[in-house]
Amino acid sequence: MSSDIRHVTVLGAGVLGSQIAFQSAFKGFTVVSYDIDDDALQAAKKRYDTLVTTYAEEVPDAKDGAAVAALDRLTVTCDLPEAVEDADLVIEAVPEVLALKRQTYKKLATLAPPRTIFATNSSTLLPSDLKDATGRPDRFLALHFANRVWQFNTAEIMGTTDTDPEVYAAVVEFAKAIGMVPIALHKEKAGYVLNSLLAPFLEAATELAFGGYADPPDVDSTWRIATGAPLGPFQMLDIIGLTTPYNIMVHGGAESQKIAAWLKENYIDRGKLGLATGEGFYKYG
Ligand SMILES: NC(=O)c1ccc[n+]([C@@H]2O[C@H](COP(=O)([O-])OP(=O)(O)OC[C@H]3O[C@@H](n4cnc5c(N)ncnc54)[C@H](O)[C@@H]3O)[C@@H](O)[C@H]2O)c1
Repeated sequence: MSSDIRHVTVLGAGVLGSQIAFQSAFKGFTVVSYDIDDDALQAAKKRYDTLVTTYAEEVPDAKDGAAVAALDRLTVTCDLPEAVEDADLVIEAVPEVLALKRQTYKKLATLAPPRTIFATNSSTLLPSDLKDATGRPDRFLALHFANRVWQFNTAEIMGTTDTDPEVYAAVVEFAKAIGMVPIALHKEKAGYVLNSLLAPFLEAATELAFGGYADPPDVDSTWRIATGAPLGPFQMLDIIGLTTPYNIMVHGGAESQKIAAWLKENYIDRGKLGLATGEGFYKYG
């Protein structure tokens, strides 16, 4: 069945959608990249040009024009019926808004051929939140990538109780075929594997600093020296950017909200958002 996936359509050509589409094309699949209007497509084309450069620099087998050649297998469009008419697999990477995703699946349900598998890249919604809108819960699951797919190549795969095991297996094979390491989840879990581990770990680190127990560099040294890990939690937070943990903690319990306020006052309001702004818990450049 996996060999039936040839034509892939990715909905949304933002940060993650563009990476998923480009990686799939780079690995030989025919890919349609859909976004909502001409402005979005212009932005998408710029992302693809940047990805060609990044792959040529960072991906060992992307030398000798292989990254440029991926573009020949990649079409961009803002025509949804055309985008999905021949799709074996549609990967949805539209903004993380429940109503928008549900509306997207309702359209897809009528436009895509019955054979088409739908996969959501949602980070925080469960596939069960969306499955009834797809009109084909047996051919629907979550396929969750990490930012910088060519480097951090996990693909967490999580179905619902309705997902057909053959569909699940086909998506596992597809993930391997595009160079990902498939991570199987046997049942639904908010945060999948990675964020189930990472979110409490990072919050525990901020608790230590916020509570005045230890300074960020010492927390990081402890983690690196005692476990052999290459990075400590505050180094990771600087890479992720401080607004993401802030947005999560500000919606958490009373203690999390206090930490969020501390992050805002001491870092975010001072423009210290992490690596991207040249300063977070550390100074760069
Ligand atoms: N950014 C990350 O690090 C990351 C990592 C893993 C998963 N995700 C998930 O990927 C999804 C997309 O995130 P992102 O960071 O790429 O967002 P983004 O904002 O960078 O991109 C979203 C894209 O979707 C387009 N869009 C808006 N409405 C649309 C519609 N109705 N149909 C099709 N496209 C539409 C937008 O024009 C934009 O180009 C989210 O579900 C998010 O949770 C993101």
